[in-house]
Amino acid sequence: MDFQGIREEIKSRIDIVDVVSDYVGLKKSGARFKGLCPFHAEKTPSFVVSPEKQVFYCFGCGTGGDIITFVMKEEGISYNEAIRKLSERAGIKLEPVHKQNIQEREVLLQIHKAAAAFFKGQLRKSEKALKYLNARGIAKESIEKFAIGAAPEGWDGLLRHLRKDGFQDRHLRVSGLVTFKENSSFDFHRDRIMFPILNSAGDIVAFGGRAMEKDVEPKYLNSPETLIFQKKRILFGLSAAKDGITGAINIVEGYVDVVMCHQYGFTNTVAPLGTALTEEHTKSLKRFAKEAVVIFDGDDAGIRAAKRAMPVILKSGLLAMALLLPEKNDPDSYLRLHGAGDFKELIAGANSYVEFMLKTGGYGVDNLREIYDTLAGIEDTVLRATLVEELSNKASISGHELREKFRGKGHKPTSPGRTIRPRVKKRPEEEMLLRIYLSVPDMAGMFTPLMEMELLEDELIKRIFGELLNGNISPTIEGLSTICTEEEIAYVTGLMVYSLDQMDGEESIEKKIRDCVKSLKLSWVNKKLGEIKEKIKKAELANNPEEVILLSQENIKYLNERRSLS
Ligand code: UTP
Ligand code: MN
Repeated sequence: MDFQGIREEIKSRIDIVDVVSDYVGLKKSGARFKGLCPFHAEKTPSFVVSPEKQVFYCFGCGTGGDIITFVMKEEGISYNEAIRKLSERAGIKLEPVHKQNIQEREVLLQIHKAAAAFFKGQLRKSEKALKYLNARGIAKESIEKFAIGAAPEGWDGLLRHLRKDGFQDRHLRVSGLVTFKENSSFDFHRDRIMFPILNSAGDIVAFGGRAMEKDVEPKYLNSPETLIFQKKRILFGLSAAKDGITGAINIVEGYVDVVMCHQYGFTNTVAPLGTALTEEHTKSLKRFAKEAVVIFDGDDAGIRAAKRAMPVILKSGLLAMALLLPEKNDPDSYLRLHGAGDFKELIAGANSYVEFMLKTGGYGVDNLREIYDTLAGIEDTVLRATLVEELSNKASISGHELREKFRGKGHKPTSPGRTIRPRVKKRPEEEMLLRIYLSVPDMAGMFTPLMEMELLEDELIKRIFGELLNGNISPTIEGLSTICTEEEIAYVTGLMVYSLDQMDGEESIEKKIRDCVKSLKLSWVNKKLGEIKEKIKKAELANNPEEVILLSQENIKYLNERRSLS
């Protein structure tokens, strides 16, 4: 039994209500149980347990999850410890698991090795893929170095190949490389350029696939997380970069940026996999480097990304530097435009954390406090002292004054689960659709013909629906755990326990789905109309009557669509 299997087994044998009752006084309330939340102080109960969904959720502090999460949080123990504890209670024997995990890991690594060889062979045969790489200026040597390949166009080329190699479906199922559905099974990546993702031991543990045509969504498709692949731990290119690091490491945003930096001689370059930089990432860098330079676009998003990444770097004891590239460039486009010499100069002129923060945020007290708080959180005393001195020099305040001014005002570490989380407002229709999908899985079939992904705006809801409707994950806590952070899981659990009482009966649920989709469509059409209006204005100013006519026709199309909606 794998870990997911045990989690399910535990939940099939133990009732969450029984376990929670050991810690919280629960009262039945409709189909659910209510009590005072153990995770924050409250006088009226907002803590809910749903026996039907086997989840808990607190409407006060936003903590939520399944039986395992509950025990972890309540007892302050790790995932493994919680599993052990609950297995004992459920009477499940755990001994063989560890061994089995090792075996399963081994098979998954073999599958990835075989898949990489297959993709490599496919690239040799694909004129289209070779042409794409050539057009992007990726040299033969880089294709070799990063073992770049191509996933074929059909549905199951990889699946058939791996079966022929003797791999069993039960292993392929958990490899993340094949999607198994009731009536069909198909390759996860199809018709894409394939970048193998290696762990720090140099094993292939996942793939990132880039679409070759414009407008294909998503542009990059990463393997789902598996037993051997956790995004928050892995940096693309680290395995190739290790030997090229002499003190400093460059952190860029994309796969192609890494490949091109290496190609132009900057062999000390890595990138996270489309996610924010984590402490796990920077801790693993600490083994090879003393300094990390984040290299991002110079736009607002780039500034925000650098502001988020640098404190994480500092926290692990590395010196953090920032380089914002000019004119909407990423490292790939900059190198191709200006060459290695200019890029090298830019890196040499990168800003320290203090410089970067003062340059982008000024000398106001709020900004100084943010800088000071970050510095105060650095554990490495030498690094902290150096940076505090830099801050006091640059901001012309003595170190003593700095400490006096900001003492005790830094962020105190808060224990997880006890903070009241600010919740980002989401559009009610989007939220309702997800709520229905998660609460009434039988209705899932109804979504596919009605939903259009482009109607969704919220990043989380869009990500979840993308994976659900593709059949990549199941609408359970286990399934969602593979693509959500702990905090996101808590939010989603809140949706699961929400009452659907007021809309029993399939008919009214279907109507609800239709209404939500319609309302989202209406706001989408209105947005389009707004955009067209702007474009018409511009075309008129530019004296471009053909464009105006084309846009007006488009305008009519959307107006008609709007009429048909109301
Ligand atoms: P960008 O959209 O900035 O693209 O994504 P890029 O790296 O410049 O890619 P090219 O040059 O157009 O090929 C940055 C990174 O974010 C992740 C990938 O890791 C990508 O390299 N990403 C992006 C995804 O995971 N999925 C996406 O759909 C897009
Ligand atoms: Mn790019």
